[in-house]
Amino acid sequence: PVLVVDFGAQYAQLIARRVREAKVYSEIVPHSMPVAEMLAKNPAAIILSGGPASVYAPDAPQVDAGMFDAGVPVFGICYGFQAMARALGGTVARTGSREYGGTPLRARPDAGVLLRELPDDLPVWMSHGDCVTEAPVGFTVTAESAGAPVAAFEDLAGRRAGVQFHPEVGHTAHGQEMLRRFLYDVAGIEPTWTAENIIDEQVARIREQVGDKEVICALSGGVDSAVAAALVHRAVGDQLTCVFVDHGLLRAGEAEQVEKDYVAATGIKLKVVDAQDQFLGALAGVTDPERKRKIIGREFIRVFEAAAREIASHGDVEFLVQGTLYPDVVESGGGTGTANIKSHHNVGGLPEDLKFALVEPLRTLFKDEVRALGLQLGLPEAMVWRHPFPGPGLAIRIIGAVDRERLEVLRLADLIAREELTAAGLDRGVWQFPVVLLADVRSVGVQGDGRSYGHPVVLRPVSSEDAMTADWSRLPYEVVARISTRITNEVAEVNRVVLDVTSKPPGTIEWE
Ligand code: XMP
Repeated sequence: PVLVVDFGAQYAQLIARRVREAKVYSEIVPHSMPVAEMLAKNPAAIILSGGPASVYAPDAPQVDAGMFDAGVPVFGICYGFQAMARALGGTVARTGSREYGGTPLRARPDAGVLLRELPDDLPVWMSHGDCVTEAPVGFTVTAESAGAPVAAFEDLAGRRAGVQFHPEVGHTAHGQEMLRRFLYDVAGIEPTWTAENIIDEQVARIREQVGDKEVICALSGGVDSAVAAALVHRAVGDQLTCVFVDHGLLRAGEAEQVEKDYVAATGIKLKVVDAQDQFLGALAGVTDPERKRKIIGREFIRVFEAAAREIASHGDVEFLVQGTLYPDVVESGGGTGTANIKSHHNVGGLPEDLKFALVEPLRTLFKDEVRALGLQLGLPEAMVWRHPFPGPGLAIRIIGAVDRERLEVLRLADLIAREELTAAGLDRGVWQFPVVLLADVRSVGVQGDGRSYGHPVVLRPVSSEDAMTADWSRLPYEVVARISTRITNEVAEVNRVVLDVTSKPPGTIEWE
């Protein structure tokens, strides 16, 4: 792999994704990992990420100069560039004058491999206080900016390079090209990380892990569990059974999509459990969001365990497929020190005291890679590009108690909103589009010749990268207007449509 050494903040994940977009496999490791351990992973190259510290801060993470003795290609970015310069005997000065944001970069006449033949005054993204004032011996300075006399350097013989700016962010013109040049031309790595290769590799791994044992997977209808199951099916065929629990809190057409489209595309054995009465019974009269979540989680496990017992043909099912993604692994401390707290556990994700060994074929992948895999495995586009949907479903989008009538009202309003978003071609521009029914609120309206006294529906379209933060989507007014008109016309109980214009934080994406 290419190792991305994480010096903090959010840069490492972005770099790892960009490396993979260049079709090279990458992994994130914490800066605290000893160099010997990094080298034991047999890295094709090491990339030192940016980070929030000053290399002169008392406990600033440093680069062990031993890293450079092993002949592994190294690329330093921002903080990593400075730490690298310092470790190799260059000079880093505390100028105090910050350069932040889009900054023109001037390539030197000898622009090196990374920058040759790129435009002059290239806008690059800078974010630094200190700067490198003298490159280490053996390095050529290839570019400068107003605030950084050494903005990029290279030592081709040693297969090392570094840049003060952030090539991984979209604001740096030709940033991806520079990263590719480092990987291919400086480090000499072949671009072989493709969907087909990932599938082959994972299939072999799953076969080895599972042998001839039985496997189950809880399908949520979301892309992650769908792709994970499809991979496992490709590996072990009918040893896999999927369980889809219809808890009655799904959106219009979702159960059908899983039953028909998914099975048609994959040929997977599917057990659909209709547990609507069980869930709605347990939820009757409950208004507190946390109680709703707990009840749904509990019932889900009951249903799933019962289904697993029925599926086991000889002895017990030993393996459970989970659609865990790489960011979850990194965030829970598997990769870096910068932990983000996740407050949700997926209801489709089951507790550890269920006696299964886990099969997690997506553990090393990012969401966009999972989607590419899904397409390569032949899953329907509608499934692959589906917006995230919470495990507790519409129960946490009805503010108030949940019952069948309210679910029907929300299902119809939600269907209209989704239809109009799709018709406007905006599905991919929006991360998620919850529609919320304020079931315990009524307001007065006028419809036809009469007074109405109905419920409001809230539109909550958001844009996001990872759901940890979000902004409200600026949908075109015409689209919002069409959704509003159709919902108030077509859903009898709803006489008002409102738009949620709160970012996250302070709001969460869901209302409960
Ligand atoms: P919030 O509301 O915290 O949601 O901003 C962030 C993302 O998580 C989804 N979500 C859930 N997903 N089980 C899930 O599988 C849950 O209990 C759950 N609660 C929220 C939400 O839809 C958004 O994408």
